[in-house]
Amino acid sequence: MSWEDGFPFELSDEERMAQETARAFSKNEVLPLAAELDREHRYPAELIPKMGALGLMGACVPTEFGGSGLSTVAYCLMVEELAAACASTSIIMSAHNSLCIAPIVAAGSVEQKQRYLPDLCSGKTVGCFALSEPGCGSDAASLSCRVEKQGDHYIVNGAKNWITNGPVADVCVLFATHDTAGGHKAVSAFVHPMEIAGLARGKKEDKLGIRGSPTCGLTYENVKLTSANLLGAERSGFKVAMSTLNGGRLGVAAQAIGIARAALRDALSYSKERKTFGVPICEHQSIQNYLSEMIIQIDAARALTLGAARLKDRGAAYIRQAAMAKLYASEAAMFAAIKGVQIHGGYGYVSDYPAERHLRDAKITEIYEGTSEIQRIVIASQLVKES
Ligand code: CAA
Repeated sequence: MSWEDGFPFELSDEERMAQETARAFSKNEVLPLAAELDREHRYPAELIPKMGALGLMGACVPTEFGGSGLSTVAYCLMVEELAAACASTSIIMSAHNSLCIAPIVAAGSVEQKQRYLPDLCSGKTVGCFALSEPGCGSDAASLSCRVEKQGDHYIVNGAKNWITNGPVADVCVLFATHDTAGGHKAVSAFVHPMEIAGLARGKKEDKLGIRGSPTCGLTYENVKLTSANLLGAERSGFKVAMSTLNGGRLGVAAQAIGIARAALRDALSYSKERKTFGVPICEHQSIQNYLSEMIIQIDAARALTLGAARLKDRGAAYIRQAAMAKLYASEAAMFAAIKGVQIHGGYGYVSDYPAERHLRDAKITEIYEGTSEIQRIVIASQLVKES
């Protein structure tokens, strides 16, 4: 057993196999591309069909719709393996699974599932999730993107921002409001193809990290949808968004663990080679303190994440646990990445070594799919409800 496995966690044979498959693929096919994807800001299009063939693009989708029918635990293990190789690739896969596919599985009609899921699961198409807006992020109920019912049609006007996979996506799960003063009860969810009249993608964002994962804004100008695009009941979209984000937070937690693992892996190997005062620096107590704190936080983050994922798999309440996992794992990733740079000294500050990339990649996990500040609100409000 390697330190990268953490504590023995009760896994089914299927979950263990999913982890091993993702680990081998990540090591052989993803890790060798990671530095280049970051440097060139390049979307790894060639990996998508391969991930589809291995079952990563429809991890938790029932097999009848072309998915792998795996547990959330297996999904988190797969995201972690991808992220330990390349944070960008892991969020392309995780946003696709957690944010686009999951709400279709949870709230979609049989027709919508048959129409969208098989291609999404095979990697023939890629999905995105359009909730945030230029002026609306953490306060997700105060949307400005308007939907107006006109006879049998829904007409959408407005702007969306920070859309992971936006520049390359084929399918979008969209949230829009019937009444900007109506709060969460006025929001409807839709699923629609990206090739649709009136929808324009904005410029690709130039990001600090996860540079292989493309992000853009979207503009809707009189986009015409029908009831076939409505996801769940009219005006029930806020609940769809919140439930989606509960699951999405587990994906981000797993991603953060993978990034932290990469930071520790690279710091460990550097600290065994680099010598100061006549010994490898891993023999100095200051460095040992950093390494020990990094592995403790990684293992604790994984225990929280897989524990919350297991609750989800059992159909139990897991909102607080998912928020706790996401908050703790993202802070563990930042800690590991910062200490990873410190252990590398000057070499940690230049792009010849991956330490600086891990730091740039780690930061976003404290921001997207609910900031750390929002996670603390969710944790405390759930705690009050539970007591
Ligand atoms: N799960 C399920 N239901 C939830 C929920 C949750 N986590 N949070 C709230 N709800 C339900 C409530 O129970 C309530 O239902 P009732 O009407 O039946 O009582 C309803 O939703 C409204 O709840 P609140 O009054 O608590 O809602 P609020 O407006 O005060 O907002 C919030 C609560 C938790 C702050 C919410 O706005 C939120 O989660 N904000 C963060 C949004 C976010 O994570 N954005 C990230 C966007 S995705 C992204 O990052 C892009 C990408 O591509 C990666």
